[in-house]
Amino acid sequence: MTIKSVKAREILDSRGNPTVEVDLVTESGLFRSMVPSGASAGKHEALELRDGDKTRYQGKGTLKAVANVNNIIAPKLVGVDPTLQKEVDNLMLKLDGTPNKAKLGANAILAVSMAVSKAGAAAKSVPLYHHVGDLFGTKASSLPVPMCNVINGGKHAGQENSIQEHMLMPTGAKSFREGIRMISESYQQLSSLLKKKYGVGATLIGDEGGFAPSQIEDIHERLDLMLSAVKNAGYEGMIKIALDPASSEFYYDGIYKIAKKSYNRGELVDFYADLCKTYPIISIEDGFAEDDWDSWVEMTKKLGSKLQIVGDDLFVTNTERITKGIKLKSANSVLIKLNQIGSVTETLNAIAMAQKNGWTAVVSHRSGETEDNFIADMVVGTNSGQIKTGAPARSDRNAKYNQLLRIEEELGNKAQFKPKTQVPKQGYIQKPYISPKHP
Ligand code: PGA
Ligand code: ZN
Repeated sequence: MTIKSVKAREILDSRGNPTVEVDLVTESGLFRSMVPSGASAGKHEALELRDGDKTRYQGKGTLKAVANVNNIIAPKLVGVDPTLQKEVDNLMLKLDGTPNKAKLGANAILAVSMAVSKAGAAAKSVPLYHHVGDLFGTKASSLPVPMCNVINGGKHAGQENSIQEHMLMPTGAKSFREGIRMISESYQQLSSLLKKKYGVGATLIGDEGGFAPSQIEDIHERLDLMLSAVKNAGYEGMIKIALDPASSEFYYDGIYKIAKKSYNRGELVDFYADLCKTYPIISIEDGFAEDDWDSWVEMTKKLGSKLQIVGDDLFVTNTERITKGIKLKSANSVLIKLNQIGSVTETLNAIAMAQKNGWTAVVSHRSGETEDNFIADMVVGTNSGQIKTGAPARSDRNAKYNQLLRIEEELGNKAQFKPKTQVPKQGYIQKPYISPKHP
């Protein structure tokens, strides 16, 4: 089986911004992939090539990246075996020749890389998760516990100095299917609570499909409403909470600002610790800013034995930065986003590095998404055990959840769903839930 042609085009993502799509053809058919895009992107991410031509899409066009695929990458791949993922990715890295994919664009390279994986799976007549498992060196069987972002804040909701993501994790579910149902039912309960208290305007949604009630600034009220919704849905104690403050967005020269309050390093660690004592929080991502390593180390020292501490903007799926983090003990988990690093092989390397060092890896979407559900297969293929892909709403998010439902069905009794084994061995703070101050 060989690659016959590779063709890129400019399409739209879930926010209406242009992005890159690639059609790759082999004897087995056409394989299509689409690249997502972040809003609260880290400054150390690989370069997302945008045209900068202000007369089109406010400068966000992707015609240069499309041309790089069609004119530079495509001619080199015709005749190549698509099962040779590493070789193809290395070839593209060489063609680019820069440390951050600045020449061809991470969006150009990744679109091809993901399409090659899909073609590679078809060449072997196996599902994509199985092929990813082969590339990764595991037998794919583990369905992830989802982190579902039901209240959107920060950049995803047009808010400043606001915690970005408030997520529900159905750790008490027996299967992925049951977990997704628990989340969906809780999400609908949350909608009713918001409507009752603040009117229908409070149920408008943000970029990741979660509600974006701008009138609720206080994190305690947000979390109280979420837990009330969980209780009303009948799942009290079975659903835990994960947060992604995305704090690089509210970091001002040594000071963090949330709502109308300012925090220094010690105060912010205490703020998180207090939240963990009050609410069943099991994971906090980007609690500190992307270059504030000392604060990360302090937070991990104080809370890391009981809490999953996930680095997103800190690590940007980059093994060099993850190596530094492991040495410094600055976290115990890595967020994994394909387009932060820009190829499938490098992404799998980042997951492997996390897992080998006893850290967890959380596979993630971006706030700007497409209908491409590659990450669903990737999370199963790497047995990563956790996926973050928005609220159970909007098709760009549900494309991933729906694919996981299909994979679970296909794996049948081989499917594993053991959410509790995915957390650091020491176990999290799991205090009983205290009844809401803001019912
Ligand atoms: P982004 O945010 O996709 O907008 O960068 C997601 C996140 O911070 O996890
Ligand atoms: Zn994040």
